[in-house]
Amino acid sequence: MSSMMPDVQEVLIPSEEIQQKVKDLGEQITRDYREHRRLLLVGVLRGAVIVMGDLMRRIDLPCEIDFMEVSSYGAGTTSSGVVRILKDLEEDISGRHVLIVEDIIDTGLTLSYLRRSLLARKPASLEICALLSKPARRRVELDVKYLGFEIPDEFVVGYGLDYAGCYRNLPDICILKPEVFGGAAS
Ligand code: PRP
Ligand code: MN
Ligand code: MG
Repeated sequence: MSSMMPDVQEVLIPSEEIQQKVKDLGEQITRDYREHRRLLLVGVLRGAVIVMGDLMRRIDLPCEIDFMEVSSYGAGTTSSGVVRILKDLEEDISGRHVLIVEDIIDTGLTLSYLRRSLLARKPASLEICALLSKPARRRVELDVKYLGFEIPDEFVVGYGLDYAGCYRNLPDICILKPEVFGGAAS
């Protein structure tokens, strides 16, 4: 058992369920992109690193990976609505089939910004894969082709998701005890 478990109130999605879902998503993506040339997976640092690592190994097609870092949260638990590009792509995506890989969609502001910014670079196609979505928090409409789980409006950590930079290495997706983050969003 993880030494971080004392900070956890509840395991929302256990690791085995996540792995099964990632496998299903990988198989679906493999079917959908079979006819295309090299798929480019774009992971959104830092939260997407774990799902990126697992998902890419479930896609049975030649593919490449690249990363962007776009941050909207800072150290708090709620979105500031301010999206900053901290690191841009290394690849030219014009004419490429691009799939953005995210850990979670909350307000949708990060992805809607990213989507607009990548579309302007004229990819052959652009879709979104997100492991988690919190529909109750959505502020902008977003078309998500590959979605793992819809979850309630709880602050979750683990499997890439952090609180103040920590807990990303928890294998399960967990709800933290309120006292860990002072009980209030910052
Ligand atoms: C989190 C999460 C998504 C984004 C979702 O990232 O990983 O990228 O917020 O929120 P939104 O839909 O309200 O925009 P965060 O900004 O915390 O950076 P991180 O991935 O480095 O933790
Ligand atoms: Mn993120
Ligand atoms: Mg974060």
